[in-house]
Amino acid sequence: MKILVTGGAGFIGSAVVRAAVAQGHSVVNLDALTYAACLDNVASVADNPLYAFEQADIRDRAALDRIFAAHKPDTVMHLAAESHVDRSIDGPGDFIETNITGTYQMLEAARAYWEGADKPEAFRFHHISTDEVFGSLGETGQFTEETPYDPRSPYSASKAASDHLVRAWHETYGLPIVMSNCSNNYGPFHFPEKLIPVVIIKALAGEPLPIYGDGSNVRDWLYVEDHADALLCVLTRGENGRSYNIGGENERSNLELVTTLCAILDRLRPGAAPYADQITYVTDRPGHDARYAIDPQRIANELGWRPSVTVEEGLEKTVQWYLDNEDWWRALQNRAGVGERLGTGK
Ligand SMILES: NC(=O)c1ccc[n+]([C@@H]2O[C@H](COP(=O)([O-])OP(=O)(O)OC[C@H]3O[C@@H](n4cnc5c(N)ncnc54)[C@H](O)[C@@H]3O)[C@@H](O)[C@H]2O)c1
Repeated sequence: MKILVTGGAGFIGSAVVRAAVAQGHSVVNLDALTYAACLDNVASVADNPLYAFEQADIRDRAALDRIFAAHKPDTVMHLAAESHVDRSIDGPGDFIETNITGTYQMLEAARAYWEGADKPEAFRFHHISTDEVFGSLGETGQFTEETPYDPRSPYSASKAASDHLVRAWHETYGLPIVMSNCSNNYGPFHFPEKLIPVVIIKALAGEPLPIYGDGSNVRDWLYVEDHADALLCVLTRGENGRSYNIGGENERSNLELVTTLCAILDRLRPGAAPYADQITYVTDRPGHDARYAIDPQRIANELGWRPSVTVEEGLEKTVQWYLDNEDWWRALQNRAGVGERLGTGK
């Protein structure tokens, strides 16, 4: 297949690009190269004849039309988005524009292209979304595909809006779509403003390891390469019009997660004192969702997909990757906002 991937210079998009090329698909990577992008993430496929790159903004309809016409993709995987909750608290405008207006422009460009090509049955618009659209859980329960939407941050509200647009374009115009809502990803090439890389980098620098609130917020963690594999599975085997929740079956509180990372670092790069001594509690994120958890039955039963690594295995691989790829993360540390406390609501 020829797949148009948006956001392919970001964290998850680049994992999708690398996995798709490894599976023999042609990939056109469409990315605006915002602060969160890094073309080094796709350096391993840059010279592969199956790979092409287009710098474009998903809000730019003329650019989208040109790219669809030039590359004639069989299918679309839409990942481009503003993705950092803390940044959405400080500046929601970019999230509204890229995640909502940008998805609208993508849908319209995809629809015009699909209709112009006589509505090929195999075409899919795969919209990649988050479990955060479902809101916050108490101590029990899991999100299913039928859980009502209840987003609570500007980021999750903008993603929820984009999900609704995708559903509407399917119901109203018949555009073939699949959707997926996934839990927290981690792994290689994770931008150094998100919790796991922040903890690894600050630990190595001997700096305080910031835990929001009391550290009791629970997330389900999925290794990014498992997510990329799941996305290609949904794209190729998912049913037209259906959505799939994707999870790692690995729930951890933030404090447990950071403690595990410290223990791995103690083994792989022992310091003078245990890294956990650097843990510091900081003011909580406003509206911080208490718990997310995914019921993975649909994707497991209908598509036969399960995550391949446990969180302990994935975190060990991730820590080792950051130890081995210091040049990659050091180069990103001077990007605006990286290393600063964002999203306090002040
Ligand atoms: N990170 C997670 O844990 C997670 C979990 C579930 C779902 N998701 C979703 O997966 C997708 C990818 O997430 P990520 O963590 O890889 O994000 P990311 O921030 O690492 O990457 C986003 C990419 O999109 C590009 N982009 C942003 N605005 C653009 C625009 N207007 N036009 C074109 N390109 C633009 C950026 O340049 C960047 O390369 C997002 O849609 C996100 O909502 C993320």
